[in-house]
Amino acid sequence: MQNNITLLQNRRILLGITGSIACYKAVDLASKLTQAGALIDVIMTRAAQQFVTPLTFQAVTGRATYTDMWQTDSGGALPTHIAHVGLAEGADLLAVIPATAHTIARLAHGFANDLLSVTALAARCPLLIAPAMDGAMYSHPAVQGNLEILRSRGAWIIEPEEGRFASGLVGKGRLPETPTLIGAIRRALGARGALAGRRVVVTAGGTREPLDPVRYLTNRSSGKQGYALAQAAVDAGAAVTLITAARGLPVPYGADAVPVETAAEMHDSVLQHVATADALLMAAAVADFRPQAAAPNKIKKSELDQDAPTIQLERTADILAAVKDRRAQTGFPRVTVGFAAESQELLTYARDKITRKGVDLLVANDISAADAGFDVDTNRVIILNMDGEAETLPLASKAVVSEAILERVAKLLEGR
Ligand code: CTP
Repeated sequence: MQNNITLLQNRRILLGITGSIACYKAVDLASKLTQAGALIDVIMTRAAQQFVTPLTFQAVTGRATYTDMWQTDSGGALPTHIAHVGLAEGADLLAVIPATAHTIARLAHGFANDLLSVTALAARCPLLIAPAMDGAMYSHPAVQGNLEILRSRGAWIIEPEEGRFASGLVGKGRLPETPTLIGAIRRALGARGALAGRRVVVTAGGTREPLDPVRYLTNRSSGKQGYALAQAAVDAGAAVTLITAARGLPVPYGADAVPVETAAEMHDSVLQHVATADALLMAAAVADFRPQAAAPNKIKKSELDQDAPTIQLERTADILAAVKDRRAQTGFPRVTVGFAAESQELLTYARDKITRKGVDLLVANDISAADAGFDVDTNRVIILNMDGEAETLPLASKAVVSEAILERVAKLLEGR
């Protein structure tokens, strides 16, 4: 997992820990969030301290752990001598992970009998809750009702996972793993970002064009840049649809994934989803050619001779060209971004593509470089706009490149 996360830099997150066996997972979460650049102030309930000690959290966060409502001295770490007020002030997020049925009830009904519940009342930042308990408890109408109350007040709830509990029973109520928790924190923190209220469609991966039931033509695209764009769009507060031909990559938390296989499927899905979209980021490597006909059965080799079949190809539809026409009729999507992977004469081809494809921005990269383009985690791109201006970004992670692209998309959307 990527260590530094731009959205988390110096963000102050209050991490409430309550008494569930899943407390041990919260240690890893606190550690990873700290490594990613966040400032984590841990508040533990009394029951939580039965599972993990305050010192454990102190060690991984490098900051004090708070347990006592009557504590008046924060060691100078907080702006006031009253712990709950000082903790609540200026916090960017209160995340209660794991949240027991008891704490969920206390938060829903405004009880204020320990540091965590008092801080929750004093805080004005978004609230994120990750329920963790036995399946029967989680599905109980009392718990569901309390979650509904919190949801109706704008709290973010992380859906627990199904699986095996410490009790040996199986059901829904397990705390998700760290990457999912961090994803949920990113979505909650980013919700008021530059793309809040915007709908963004991202395409990713290389399409597969079947030759017969077992073979297909594809390309070297991994989908990493597209997935990074989807994550950056979630971080900026957008509602994201990720139309993906890639496999095996984790879908960013909060993004809606639509798996597709062929260029034709991607074409139909894109046209359907851009009908109401603010922006389309066309990062997928769409096949330009496909076999004219896919054989219904596996193509067999002959025992008698060395003949090999000749595969007749035909052109696929150009998705961006179709979007250009659609946009001319309907005005949607409001902004379109194309991507160009070139192995030679990058700028010449890219300049031609920006007008031909009818995009607002064209992100061009030189796939002949070892540290940019296919299947690596870094990219070196040039962003061209409709006025013909070209901006060269330095070599950076695909995450950072995506943030730069989305900043420009947000600018273009202002007033559109
Ligand atoms: N693209 C598309 N539909 C296709 C092929 C490509 O919408 N059938 C999109 C890609 O997703 C990308 C942009 O067009 O955003 C440029 O893709 P690229 O493969 O670089 O360009 P091509 O149009 O295929 O042109 P060429 O083969 O000449 O490089």
